[in-house]
Amino acid sequence: MVLQAVADIPAETGQAPTPPKHVAIIMDGNGRWAARSGVSRSRGHRKGADAVKEAIEGAIINNVQYLTLYAFSSENWNRPEDEVTDLMGLLKMYLKKEIRTLNKEGVCLKVIGCRDTLSPDILKLIDKAEALTKSNTRITLVIALSYGSRDEITLAVKEIASKVGLGTLKPNDISEKTIEEHLFTSKIPDPDLLIRTSGEQRLSNFLLWQSAYTEFLFLPVLWPDFTQQTFTDAVLEFQSRDRRYGARP
Ligand code: IPE
Ligand code: IPE
Ligand code: MG
Repeated sequence: MVLQAVADIPAETGQAPTPPKHVAIIMDGNGRWAARSGVSRSRGHRKGADAVKEAIEGAIINNVQYLTLYAFSSENWNRPEDEVTDLMGLLKMYLKKEIRTLNKEGVCLKVIGCRDTLSPDILKLIDKAEALTKSNTRITLVIALSYGSRDEITLAVKEIASKVGLGTLKPNDISEKTIEEHLFTSKIPDPDLLIRTSGEQRLSNFLLWQSAYTEFLFLPVLWPDFTQQTFTDAVLEFQSRDRRYGARP
């Protein structure tokens, strides 16, 4: 893929509207896509992995700096064992096969979530992929894997409490910034736009703290049908929103 960002293309008139700096996506609907197409859930997940490429290309073309993809939630461990094995297998394949292309495209990869729950072979692939791409600056791709927002906040509270216990942090010095710095997403700006596919309208334990002022977009499209164009249309919808952050209009 050789991608040119929209901003690199000279505009004929005026200033291009600002794209969202950070887009987060809840990639939902692989199972329903499979049922609708009369194929196995496993095929649905594989088709979903192809849509990931569309999302990354869409993000690059639209000059988005951070793309966070919800790939596997802390609750998804409760799915049948064969489906979990399938999803982990796909992830392994993705990390092995796609990483060189991602690196060539200037993608910096980061994985957030509960690493303790992942198998050693996946952890090794993640470490390798993060190390290989760490100096890339075109876009940061954050994969939320075995991720749960309540888990993340609980862990942050534990770390903060232990610093207070040790006397290295005073309770009065705890601010929003302190909490942010202890989340998996420290150093990553809050998402400007959060897209969920498949028509469901809930967060399913995704970025609860970080999405305080995020714009939400719930799309009926099932994840395997998501394309670069879907991404571009979502960005256009975002640009039509009026973000007030509680201030007077
Ligand atoms: C999203 O598709 C993939 C993951 C949650 C890992 P689903 O598997 O949730 O698809 P539906 O919701 O059953 O259609
Ligand atoms: C959310 O989708 C998690 C991911 C997309 C990775 P789910 O399909 O697991 O969410 P629920 O069960 O419908 O809330
Ligand atoms: Mg689902």
